[in-house]
Amino acid sequence: METGSLRGRTIVVGVTGGIAAYKAAALVSRLTQRGADVRVIMTESATRFVAPLTFQALSRNPVHTDIFDERDPAVISHIDLADRADLFIVAPATANIIAKMAHGLADDMLSTTLLATTAPILVAPAMNVHMYAHPAVQANLRLLAERGVRFAEPGTGPLACGYVGKGRMAEPEEILAAAEALLAEKGAGGAKGPLAGRRVVVTAGGTIERIDPVRYITNDSSGKMGIAIAEASRDLGAEVTLVAARVSVPLPGGVEIVRVESAEEMLHAVMERFEGADIVVKAAAVADYRPAVRHAAKVKKKEDRLTIELERTPDILAEAGRRKTRQFLIGFAAETEDLEANAMDKLRRKNCDLVVANDVTEPGAGFNTDTNSVIVFDAGGRAAEWTLLTKREIGLRLMRLAAERLAAREGNPG
Ligand code: CTP
Repeated sequence: METGSLRGRTIVVGVTGGIAAYKAAALVSRLTQRGADVRVIMTESATRFVAPLTFQALSRNPVHTDIFDERDPAVISHIDLADRADLFIVAPATANIIAKMAHGLADDMLSTTLLATTAPILVAPAMNVHMYAHPAVQANLRLLAERGVRFAEPGTGPLACGYVGKGRMAEPEEILAAAEALLAEKGAGGAKGPLAGRRVVVTAGGTIERIDPVRYITNDSSGKMGIAIAEASRDLGAEVTLVAARVSVPLPGGVEIVRVESAEEMLHAVMERFEGADIVVKAAAVADYRPAVRHAAKVKKKEDRLTIELERTPDILAEAGRRKTRQFLIGFAAETEDLEANAMDKLRRKNCDLVVANDVTEPGAGFNTDTNSVIVFDAGGRAAEWTLLTKREIGLRLMRLAAERLAAREGNPG
């Protein structure tokens, strides 16, 4: 992003006690270079890693460490900072501050200011791999995500503790990009967003088709693409329902969540909401087949070979295409060959307005990746092509395109 892109924005950066505190210095420097008014709050332990003077020099503002150190008698500094913030970043975020945020603790300057702010919050966790994976930390992260807190996901690599794994703080550039995206969204979203007043139903994840009470057939879908679309729709102002099958990432806050297992359950969840929907996005990886018989009791081993007979599941997208009146329908096509012909065929057969196709054999595309490369088709052929973008960026572009198309169709361009 260019210099000056954050001019006029106040960004509060909370620094907690971890080795990665030195990377927060680079982040503060970059935010300041882009014109932001950066206010740094450090925890007591953060000051053991980097001196407050470093952050003071880089932000050109005094650094706050002590809640009782009130320098300006006209204001109460934690409330003043909380109110002024357009964005609050916590980087690095230790397991301790994440727990405090999740449970509403306020026992120092940073945690108290975090509790008092209504600004969007971006958290960049940094900790040992086992700490990050600990169920308590994961539960706290989920709780925060449900409340709308955003994350700059930690990377995988060598950690200061000697382990190699997930827990290394995201690079300053990544945090910066996430911060800019969050600010842009908040500026463009809400009541003024291009999807304001629209109802969007998104499906995500892989369906589970049960064989017996303890066994099932599923697929590799992580749900990331569908979740990114649900988040993008929310941020562009829509009222969103996310129909989620099996997913391997946290579900977003600020959207209605409907959990389902099978294709059959997903069909009902979508159809119940179909009438009221303006846009329906079928990003889920729905099983095409399910066991013809679902055993009520656990299947016991007997013979050397066991045959499971499969039958077709309902095609949810095709059913939506049949029932569609005014709804804007977006389907997905994961292909390994003849991308264009297959995608166009799906678009016509299932009566979609758009089909988002990707070649799942390409690196950085498809299941379980954070990025994707897609070609979007409409009835006229290729409508857009987006290469190696984050799923979040693809979600935003796709939903902006859908908003434009819907508005144009209603004779209300723009
Ligand atoms: N889909 C669906 N219900 C199903 C299967 C698929 O709604 N039972 C939707 C998916 O959510 C996706 C689109 O259909 O949006 C394309 O899925 P895919 O399985 O690639 O389509 P098929 O037409 O089944 O293609 P293929 O012939 O390649 O199996």
